[in-house]
Amino acid sequence: MSSIYRRPELAAQMSRQLLNPGVLDEGLRSGLFLSGLRRTGKTTFLLNDLVPALEEAGALVMYVDLWSDTQTNPAVLVLAAVRRTLAELQTPASSMLRKLKRVGSADVGAFGFKFGFKIDSVGTEGGPTLARALTELVDQARTNVVLIVDEVQQAITSDDGNQMLLALKAARDAINPRPGTPGHFIFIGTGSHRALVSELTARRNQAFAGATSVPYPVLDADYVGHLLKRLQQEGAVRLPTLEVAVQAFATLGNRPEEMLKALRQLSRHLPPGGNPDEHLPVIAATLRSTAADIELMKVEQLGSLATAVFERIASTKGDARGLFSADAAADYTKAIGREVRVEEIQPIVNDLLAANLIMRKGHGMYGVTDPFVQEMWREKKALDDTL
Ligand SMILES: Nc1ncnc2c1ncn2[C@@H]1O[C@H](COP(=O)(O)OP(=O)(O)OP(=O)(O)O)[C@@H](O)[C@H]1O
Ligand SMILES: [Mg+2]
Repeated sequence: MSSIYRRPELAAQMSRQLLNPGVLDEGLRSGLFLSGLRRTGKTTFLLNDLVPALEEAGALVMYVDLWSDTQTNPAVLVLAAVRRTLAELQTPASSMLRKLKRVGSADVGAFGFKFGFKIDSVGTEGGPTLARALTELVDQARTNVVLIVDEVQQAITSDDGNQMLLALKAARDAINPRPGTPGHFIFIGTGSHRALVSELTARRNQAFAGATSVPYPVLDADYVGHLLKRLQQEGAVRLPTLEVAVQAFATLGNRPEEMLKALRQLSRHLPPGGNPDEHLPVIAATLRSTAADIELMKVEQLGSLATAVFERIASTKGDARGLFSADAAADYTKAIGREVRVEEIQPIVNDLLAANLIMRKGHGMYGVTDPFVQEMWREKKALDDTL
């Protein structure tokens, strides 16, 4: 049994809704945004289930992860992915061409696509726009083209990223409404920050206003069952019941890595004659709070000022503003017990951004990157305050 629990039916159903939407699902062609907490398996689902399902249905799929390199401008990463695909399709006998040929859509056979522009110039000043490049792509591929952007929220943190989203919307609006278009351009974005991701579709001034935003379907009892079965096959005997294991998985925020850790601890530390169903919930509760500790430790390692800045952001409901104000500096001074000058703050905020602990949500607005970490920080804070 593979270590990855796959969800082909779910993926096939999503793929059908995206590529051949019924009347009620037509809105999905405006864009689909999936949001789910960190480490719950979004990327794994995209790469192992959804991409194959879309390809199986004949679509040409491009994938880009904006967290693969948080230092690089999101727009650059997206352009690179598009250019890579175009280049591959120009290459005779490339695997992408073979795939298209197999599903019988492209009429160019093994010879490669011919674009009326230089690939390197796509999206540059004077070069073809993303809309033009993607239109040509759809027209030659004669099939649906899907662009998946993992951690899309990263794009709204910079002006270039926002421009890129607008360029993708322009592409969608150039391609999809054409009568008899040989394929559609479908945009899928995922993100770990539910509020931010929904904002992408809800705010009128956002590029993808009107697109659909849905929660990422987390792994469920079937995954836990699969895991227990694998352990059984490996010869484990003192396993929890499915019911208790599912409950523990929920406590751990539906995170497979944490679940494995919990089961590992259970198998190592269960005393002779101990009842797995009694021990697992305790282990899960403890792990739940240590999961966030790792992230909070990273904050501490950046120093006391970083901790004070992080606390200010984490204790704010919604967007934290005014991090660089004289007021804020006075608060930091109080928190760390030494004079903090306003010009010391920016480099610290940059450190926190580079460590992906906080994110910029707009001009002068910041938030904690991982909502789970923020939640745990609050729980701890409340506990400290009562002691
Ligand atoms: N279906 C699955 N079966 C088994 N393990 C899984 C499955 N999905 C995810 N995992 C494991 O959970 C961990 C997190 O998965 P993944 O990176 O896909 O999550 P994510 O939500 O994209 O995380 P991030 O927020 O870091 O982007 C990985 O170690 C992965 O192997
Ligand atoms: Mg991911």
